[in-house]
Formats: sequence, C-alpha cells, structure tokens
Amino acid sequence: MPLMVGLVDGSMIKTMESRLARNRAVLVTGAAGFIGARLTQRLLDEGNAVIGIDAYTPTYEVGEKLARSALLRQHPRYRHVTGDLVEQTLAPLLEGVDVVFHLAGRPGVRPSFELRDLYWRDNVLATARLVEACAAAPSVRRLVYASSSSVYGDAALPLREDGTPAPVSPYGETKLEGERICLAANGRQLEATALRYFTVYGPGQRPDLGLRRFAEAALTGGPIELLGDGTQSRDFTYVDDVVEATQLAARAPVVGLAVNVAGGSRISLLEVFSLLEKLVRHDLEIRPSPFARGDVRHTEADTARARLLLGFEPKVSFADGYRREVDWLRRGARSAA
Ligand SMILES: NC(=O)c1ccc[n+]([C@@H]2O[C@H](COP(=O)([O-])OP(=O)(O)OC[C@H]3O[C@@H](n4cnc5c(N)ncnc54)[C@H](O)[C@@H]3O)[C@@H](O)[C@H]2O)c1
Repeated sequence: MPLMVGLVDGSMIKTMESRLARNRAVLVTGAAGFIGARLTQRLLDEGNAVIGIDAYTPTYEVGEKLARSALLRQHPRYRHVTGDLVEQTLAPLLEGVDVVFHLAGRPGVRPSFELRDLYWRDNVLATARLVEACAAAPSVRRLVYASSSSVYGDAALPLREDGTPAPVSPYGETKLEGERICLAANGRQLEATALRYFTVYGPGQRPDLGLRRFAEAALTGGPIELLGDGTQSRDFTYVDDVVEATQLAARAPVVGLAVNVAGGSRISLLEVFSLLEKLVRHDLEIRPSPFARGDVRHTEADTARARLLLGFEPKVSFADGYRREVDWLRRGARSAA
C-alpha cells in the first residue's frame, strides 16, 4: 500500500513501498495518435503487454492513425481496440491492467473555439468515464494523464506548476478539467499524475502542428504561412523525451501532482526558420499573417519538479530533434516514424 507523506498544492503525495514492476499489462488510450503510438512501441519493446484503444477521430488524415496502429498490430503482445472512450464499455479492457496511460484526446488550440462541445466530449467526458472505470478496476494502480502547457495561458515565465492556471482557449480549459478529474482520483485509491506536455515534435508529428507544416512547405519549396511576427517562442519537446517522462511517471514514487514535461530551452519561430534553412539548404519564403486566437506568445517550463519527482532530464536538443523530423519527412515516411 502507498504511504501518505504530505500535501503539496493541496494534492496528496504518496510514496510507494516499492517501485512498480517493469514488465506489466498496460492500457494506452489514443494509441494510434502521434505520441500514443510512440509510447506504445516503446512499452512493447521493453517487454510489456499493451492494450491500445483509439477512436480514429478525424481531426487529421485518418490514414496516418491507421498506419501507426497497423505497425503496432504486428507485435504479438499488442491488442488493439477500435473504440470511443465515451461509448465503449471499459471494464473488460482494464482486467489485469496495472497502469493506464491516458493520451486520447482532441488536441489543438485553434479549432477548439469552433468545436467547443467536441473538445469537452473527447477531453473531459472521455476522461471522466475512464477515471470512473479505473477507480472501479481492482488491478489498476496508476493513471498517467497527458495534459498540456495550454493550461497556463499567457502566465509569467518560467511556467510553474504551483501557479493558478489560466487557460486562454477551450482546448486549455478542457485539458485543465481533465487534470482535475484525474488528480481527484487520488482520494479513491487510484494513483494519478498529470503531465503537462510542452509542444511535442519529432518523427511522426501531427500534420496540423507548426514545425511539421513549416518543414513540409520548405521541402516542397512552397511558402510558409507564419501566424504572427516570428518572435513568439516555444519550449519544444522531442517525442522520445516525452515518452521517457511518461514512463517515468508510471514508476515514480510520488503521485497526485501536475508535472511539466518540456525540452528545456525556449526557441523562437525565427530561430526555427534559420535552422530549417540550413536543413533544407535554401532560403524560405515566409508569408506573415496575423497572430491566431488562443495562441500564447511564449512558453517556457520550470522543470524542477520533473527532475525531482520523475528523475526526468530531456536528452534531445532542438537542432538534433528537428533534423530527425525533417529527415523523416524527406524520406516521405508519413507513418513509420
Ligand atoms: N502533441 C503535442 O504537442 C501535445 C502537447 C500537449 C499535450 N498533448 C496531449 O497529448 C495527447 C496526445 O497528443 P497527440 O499529439 O499524440 O495527438 P493525436 O491526435 O495524434 O492523438 C490522440 C488520439 O486520441 C484519439 N481519440 C480522441 N478522442 C478519443 C476518444 N473519445 N476515444 C478514443 N480515442 C480518442 C484520436 O483518434 C487520436 O489518435 C493528447 O491528449 C494531447 O492533448 C499533446
């Protein structure tokens, strides 16, 4: 049984008597997604049995999701369930499962203003149903939830977990509500942690995200649409570092908190373009247009909590990580990241 040792941010902290075993049965929600597929592959490579669930929500080309899950399905320890967390009966999927990684969700800031109801459905209702099912499942000990830096809005830098989050988009609001639901489950014998991912990139990245759109345009010689003046900046996080932090959260001795997961350096879009010009070896054609609603100016994480509680250190520099993404796109590999 976990031992309660104190209160931080009003959340319970528990220490485990022993670390969780490495080889176990786990459930990954959103397993056909960009990050979920990468996490699932790593879990399989390390000897775990994985059940993946995904609804193939058409937020971007569904073929990319189908291709990711087709690769995973080749693995003998992988079982795929095509299903929607809002509709699926979840109890049978949780039988014998020790850890749940909840990455399913409707991502993206800009569409969330027009599709508010769908964001609440896929990010809040889906999370509430999953948490209920996990709390009722005897084998499930731990839930790791993929939250977002979008919960912070335009707060002062560096962004710290102990501030009061003030999201500026429906997407950010729904991710924050998802966090609240997950962390509240710590009072119900479920050990839950919320990881606030900061702009995740790398091979396999979602096609709607800026770094991929910029690279695709650069590789085909087309213009790059820049929303804003390029001085906006992000704490970009390489996908394998995110996967590492997510796995560490499944074994960490402390639960019940939100934790930033970030690459550790803040890079402006102008710096991105200058690196991209070197990677594609020609000048870019940039077409500026106004800032997009809901986009924050800057993100930069305080990563002290991730270092202390998870033992997490990002390993991949932006220059290396973006080169790997551009190489992946250059190979025309839209799925096999
Ligand atoms: N990519 C990023 O930069 C980033 C940053 C912060 C947080 N996140 C969070 O990380 C998670 C994964 O993001 P991603 O970039 O891999 O996105 P993604 O869209 O590629 O993956 C999410 C997957 O969830 C599935 N899904 C959505 N609603 C579902 C439902 N109701 N039932 C079952 N499956 C459902 C989708 O079909 C999709 O395959 C999301 O929760 C997102 O909010 C991502």
